[in-house]
Amino acid sequence: MNEEIWRELEELERKGRRRRLRTVEARRGPWVRVSGRWLLNLSSNDYLGFSAEPPEISALAEILERFGLGAGAARLLSGNHALYAELEEELARLYGRPALIFSSGYLANLGVLSGLCGRRDAIFSDKLVHASLIDGMRLSGAAFYRYPHLDLEALEGLLKKYRGKHRRAVILTESVFSMDGDFPDLSALSELSARYEALLVVDEAHAVGVFGERSLGLSEELGVLSRVDVLVGTFGKALGSYGAFVVAREEIRELLVNRARSFIFTTALPAVVVAGALAGLKRAVAAVDRRGRVRKLSRFLRKALGLPTEGLSSEVPIVPVILGEDRRALSVSERLYEAGFLAPAIRPPTVPEGTARLRLSLSATMEEHDLLRLADHLKDEICGPHS
Ligand SMILES: Cc1ncc(COP(=O)(O)O)c(C=O)c1O
Repeated sequence: MNEEIWRELEELERKGRRRRLRTVEARRGPWVRVSGRWLLNLSSNDYLGFSAEPPEISALAEILERFGLGAGAARLLSGNHALYAELEEELARLYGRPALIFSSGYLANLGVLSGLCGRRDAIFSDKLVHASLIDGMRLSGAAFYRYPHLDLEALEGLLKKYRGKHRRAVILTESVFSMDGDFPDLSALSELSARYEALLVVDEAHAVGVFGERSLGLSEELGVLSRVDVLVGTFGKALGSYGAFVVAREEIRELLVNRARSFIFTTALPAVVVAGALAGLKRAVAAVDRRGRVRKLSRFLRKALGLPTEGLSSEVPIVPVILGEDRRALSVSERLYEAGFLAPAIRPPTVPEGTARLRLSLSATMEEHDLLRLADHLKDEICGPHS
């Protein structure tokens, strides 16, 4: 048995797909210390630079005193401490709809799909959605139909053919896609969802904090917030904390409280974490300068790499550099590491076969001169002997 497990690991190694943990010894702004060396961290989702700058410690000490460290139980038992209500009220005020906190984005996506959909239902999903959404679809037991990335004509074809066969239907997308940094036409998606009586579920994990006048996401930026039926956001990325939220109409929220297993059967978040999430949310809403800064840096890096710099898509702080073969992505990543940049290779199954890449993600606290240095190294790598 042991040997068989080792063989499986060796097979991953042979394919260049074995993953290994790396220890971060310290953090300072967008820098991380690994094996004694400071590296510019291009692999974090800390778009506003908040996660390295914790909120007021005195408030946290008070909360620790009042609620202790662990919540001790699931929310439906005795884990629903007062900080949850505060955070959900703030979200409801901002989004204009009830909110429900989950313990992470992964758990929120499992819960939304498995709580909303069952065997009689159908989920129409973009092919490149995040693993947590794919797992949620599987867990739901619903039929699922996946359309080619961003191809809304193909989606409409599937809706025409299959919508009538199911009770409830969901159209599922990310707003900003985590590995590609692109986004769908949300307005056209909302029209399809109305026309085919499907609920529009949008995962805004990578857009909350970066887009929208109040940081609420791409739906806010594009003026379609009220047409999204279920919006998922996470506190672990731009908001610099941990946990996640869903905003949806009251009946959907109630159904999730009753049906979402990843909500019901897990210990509630510690009060200090929920307080951190609330602080992150408030900071993000007010962070006009940082939002502008990270979007400007995104365009700056794209320009330095010779990539298109037109439109909103050039302001997404996720810059994919697609290198193809796994080993090529690994070797470019290793060379960047030697030069002082942490940009791990992203390989299948996280991305489709043959599209291994570096996913460069930016933070408002980075400096232009560091990004210029990065672009110089990358240009060499892309045009060098390995290209
Ligand atoms: C699109 C998307 N949704 C959800 C998640 C999960 O969020 P969390 O890290 O809060 O579990 C991620 C993060 O990896 C993501 O990229």
